[in-house]
Amino acid sequence: MTTLAIHNGRVIDPALGRDGIADLVIVDGRISRVGPNEGDMVVEAERIDASGLVVAPGFVDLHVHLREPGFEYKETIASGTAAAARGGYTTVCAMPNTRPPLDSRAAVESVLREAEASARVRVLPIGCITSGRAGKELAPAGELAGAGVVALSDDGDAVADPSLMRHALEYSTRFGLPVAQHCEDPRLVRDGQMHEGWVATRLGLRGRPASAEETFVARDIALAELTGAHLHICHVSTAGSVALIRAARERGAHVTAEVTPHHLTLSHEEVAFGGSYAELTYDTNAKVNPPLREESDLEALIAALRDGVIDAVATDHAPHATIDKEIEFDLAAPGISGLETAFGLAMRLVHEGRLSLPTLVERLTVGPVRAWGLDRRHGLEGLGTLAPGALGDLVLLDPEADWTVDPERFASRGRNTPLAGRTLRGGVVATVFGGRLVHQTERAVAL
Ligand code: DOR
Repeated sequence: MTTLAIHNGRVIDPALGRDGIADLVIVDGRISRVGPNEGDMVVEAERIDASGLVVAPGFVDLHVHLREPGFEYKETIASGTAAAARGGYTTVCAMPNTRPPLDSRAAVESVLREAEASARVRVLPIGCITSGRAGKELAPAGELAGAGVVALSDDGDAVADPSLMRHALEYSTRFGLPVAQHCEDPRLVRDGQMHEGWVATRLGLRGRPASAEETFVARDIALAELTGAHLHICHVSTAGSVALIRAARERGAHVTAEVTPHHLTLSHEEVAFGGSYAELTYDTNAKVNPPLREESDLEALIAALRDGVIDAVATDHAPHATIDKEIEFDLAAPGISGLETAFGLAMRLVHEGRLSLPTLVERLTVGPVRAWGLDRRHGLEGLGTLAPGALGDLVLLDPEADWTVDPERFASRGRNTPLAGRTLRGGVVATVFGGRLVHQTERAVAL
């Protein structure tokens, strides 16, 4: 029997409405007790002093790119899940834009096998909506569901054909899987490189208009209402999308949504000025799809996250190699390596008084779990909470810790972040997965 006792932390468990100083005991990989002085009751335990720290359920990310198989030079399941552990994540949902894409039982099973062998945390694969992600015909959703995927998505590309999207939604209801759409109409974005606005004009780059996202959000909500299916909107980035999702939810449509830390906190000005006007930077590390938008969009996204119109913070962790990024803007791959900076970046909203810490924790844990019903799956009961009997997945956080982002120290192979050299306030001190420490810093003091 292995026992881990975490003493005297501020336990925030939004699923149970718990927020207070307590001890937490994990026995054989499951939460055994939570409460004041409970740690003193157990003998022969490994002990951690969490005084001054927050203890929360391990974070759950609905949207990461682990790149394996096929793009191991960008990331592997081993390196991506090591990055997840450093970021406080104990469960990550892996997008299927690999090579081959996850559009068959064999491909999904190979990811699960590799995860079993090398993953630091739990990997839940997402299957393709269409075969080869080509947008021409549906992938075998039943086969993918049987192989264990938790959602369907062609992320990176939208399913552009409305009739195909309708059928994907209809079909998904048979298997109870959400259809997670990357909402950007390729015919409107064309070869757009960043948000269509004044910064794009100044830099002479072709823009991707907000309406490219909003027209697909509107269309897909209509199709979700037609079919009664569960539509999940990936990485919402515009105020207009927020308004559409808010109205759809008020009508009772089964629409859930996620937002990334970068879309909540960074605007299109990041591309040209790197957060300060001192210097023109022209940073391909700030190139991401959908693009960083405008302050008014950030405001709407933050309000929606606060209200629960957006269910989850998801990273869209998109690691790329240096050769994919240190090239001309038009040729650079879109994406941000986000797992290791997500908490610190999102904490900006807490420190600015725009989001409470318990709400942020909710949107990183039970929010995403409930959005996709992950805790209804066999073996995942209690995911996202610290209730006795639940999985022993948790994170120790220091909301006040200042640290400087140094991509060279990332566990991820993707060093592509626009935050290099910036100071973030809010750090992950330790991550426990299944009752075992999978990441710890020197701030995690053993007793
Ligand atoms: O910026 C992005 N990068 N957006 C996506 O949707 C895909 C991702 C990737 O796979 O690199």
